Amino acid sequence: MAGPDIIAFCNQKGGVGKTTCALNIAVGLTLLRKKVLVIDFDPQAHLTYSLGLDANTLPGAIDAVMTGEKPLAEAVLDLKGMRVLPAGPGLAKLETELAARSENEFILKDRLAGVTDVSYVIIDCPPSAGLLTVNALVACREVFIPLQMEFLALKGMSRLLTLIEDIRKSCRTDGPSYRVIPTRYDARKRLNNAIMDKVRERFGPRVFRAVIRENIAVAEAPSFGQSIFEYAPRSHGAEDYLDLCREMLRRRQG
Ligand SMILES: Nc1ncnc2c1ncn2[C@@H]1O[C@H](COP(=O)(O)OP(=O)(O)OP(=O)(O)O)[C@@H](O)[C@H]1O
Ligand SMILES: [Mg+2]
Repeated sequence: MAGPDIIAFCNQKGGVGKTTCALNIAVGLTLLRKKVLVIDFDPQAHLTYSLGLDANTLPGAIDAVMTGEKPLAEAVLDLKGMRVLPAGPGLAKLETELAARSENEFILKDRLAGVTDVSYVIIDCPPSAGLLTVNALVACREVFIPLQMEFLALKGMSRLLTLIEDIRKSCRTDGPSYRVIPTRYDARKRLNNAIMDKVRERFGPRVFRAVIRENIAVAEAPSFGQSIFEYAPRSHGAEDYLDLCREMLRRRQG
């Protein structure tokens, strides 16, 4: 296959599990012997902190790559068997800086064009539809949308799908396809089950069979700078994320 599979973890709604999914799937794929580059594209830098790094003391990483200050190969770190482009301190003002440039939706796509030494690029997006998210959507081949099985989840989702459709039209790309990851699922909650049925009915095979359950260890792991596989390898969380990674690989082969 030509070039890596580039996947953006995206949902404008905040706190739905984008960073948690991006990190644990990146580590899970690494455990399954895939070469992965993971990019923290959110100025909140949660993924960077979850890896045990401090965005404030890092020399510029993805921010410096985006502005052209640093070539990508120089900014990448090797961590946990993965290649990592953390969020540097310049990411917060990057959106305003990029706004002045022309063709500013294509910058990340350009920067990733030379990346050939990994099979997967995982991009953690901020909870907004700004220029960073647009760059990620233009650069990626697939959007993974973490979705909690709650009342308003589907509403936010239709806005995201409209954005993907707009990008298809305006950026002259084929546009990414998308998949839904049901996350923070609690089988005891009746509403969770009802919404899950609705989501599967509406999005069919785009919804992963693997479901990420609500699991306290998943929430605790980042404060130790660890993925779920290091923090609690026998937890439901580790089991669910590994299932999901295996499903990703099966779909790719099939
Ligand atoms: N399966 C899970 N079980 C329990 N807690 C979870 C699970 N997945 C995520 N969380 C917790 O939910 C919160 C939000 O998750 P996360 O930071 O991944 O969301 P996000 O979409 O990246 O947020 P933001 O929009 O702010 O970037 C975090 O505290 C995280 O630890
Ligand atoms: Mg996040």
